[in-house]
Amino acid sequence: MTSSTKSQKPEFGLRGSVKAPGDKSVSHRALIFGALAEGTTEISGLLEGEDILHTANVVKAFGARVTRLGEGHWRVTGCGSRGWRTPKKPIDFGNAGTGARLIMGAAAAFNVNVSYIGDASLSSRPMGRVLTPLREMGTKFETNNDRLPLRQIQGGNLNPINYTPPHASAQVKSAVLLAGLNTEGLTELHELNLTRDHTENMLTAFGVVVVRKVKGSGQVVSIDGPARLKATHIKVPGDPSSAAFLIAAALIVPGSDIIIENVMMNDARSGLFEVLNEMGAFLRADNFRRSGGETIADLHVKYSRLNGITVMPERVPSMVDEYPVLAVIAAVARGTTIMRGLGELRVKESDRLTGTLNLLTVNGVQARIDKDTLSVTGGLVAGGAKVKTRHDHRMAMSALVLGLVSEKPIAIDDASMIATSFPSFFELMASIGAPIDKS
Ligand code: S3P
Repeated sequence: MTSSTKSQKPEFGLRGSVKAPGDKSVSHRALIFGALAEGTTEISGLLEGEDILHTANVVKAFGARVTRLGEGHWRVTGCGSRGWRTPKKPIDFGNAGTGARLIMGAAAAFNVNVSYIGDASLSSRPMGRVLTPLREMGTKFETNNDRLPLRQIQGGNLNPINYTPPHASAQVKSAVLLAGLNTEGLTELHELNLTRDHTENMLTAFGVVVVRKVKGSGQVVSIDGPARLKATHIKVPGDPSSAAFLIAAALIVPGSDIIIENVMMNDARSGLFEVLNEMGAFLRADNFRRSGGETIADLHVKYSRLNGITVMPERVPSMVDEYPVLAVIAAVARGTTIMRGLGELRVKESDRLTGTLNLLTVNGVQARIDKDTLSVTGGLVAGGAKVKTRHDHRMAMSALVLGLVSEKPIAIDDASMIATSFPSFFELMASIGAPIDKS
């Protein structure tokens, strides 16, 4: 698909107050856990992005009843003790890695025979990281190279495992824990570095006993199965990863001053906020409150003169999705920003390490990659290029944010993927005065 969507420098600073869209990670989990639970779960503030709509259809195909009551307001009647049933057709995850990996974990514990498919981006991403522990538990899959399309040919009656994932990944952690829910005995997962803990938080809200012990900079999480989920109400907090694009735009466009309401403030997701504060950003969180088992706050962001810093690899788990937009911010900061330990970016919706380098250099920014380190030197951004987004929503939005400070407009080749995670992106950007033409 081609587009001529482009952004350009605004005449004035960005101004206004916007509400962050529902968090993608929490939205996937609310639907999946609701579909596993006994009873009816009500969800408000659900992100109605394409990734999430795929997950809604998937859990329906496994036997849950899913109804949309109004904007962001959904009802899920779960399968409870009946368990998930074999779907009639192949399950299509679209572009959604989180949907795919979490659902493969949950379905592994049921006696279902199911084919999984996804779009071109998802079909190129490694699934071995979840298939390996699920096989160790006793699930059987037919795959070609551990990529989609693949088929679960045997599930259920699994053995609990004690597993240490080789990568810091909340998706892998969640897949193993979800398989453990319907498995007799203690499923235990060791994380060397803490990743987002929405699965742990939300399972607790669904009445499951999740035991967590801090270990160094990580944790040991365990579930004693079989564990039953009891339906509940989930209020989805705003997505800090989507808010990141609004924050970036306000920080780099001179004269900007905006408020972003309802942003989730979870330590395992707030790496970008800490890095921006170190760079000298005016970024204040006020009005802290609890919502749906998470803390939320309103963020006040003003244009700031930023300084380049070194971002250490330990930061990656708490801001893994935010590096492309941090690199865009670094393109106008004083000096060089060095971001280390970015290997995982190569297996996201696209190879984001190479994609970010490309996005910057084709627009005249000085940047380079050395193994897993990306260095970006700030200065004047020429712009004028059309960026290849490679089926990746975050690359598309990052490019459009860079276009707000470049001398010439920046275009993207495909705007359609933005709807996977942030369908209101264009509307919210327009409401604060960002000149982005969608055509
Ligand atoms: C997610 C985990 C992260 C993140 C993704 C959402 C989740 O992936 O990149 O956007 O909801 O668990 P990894 O677990 O592969 O790091």
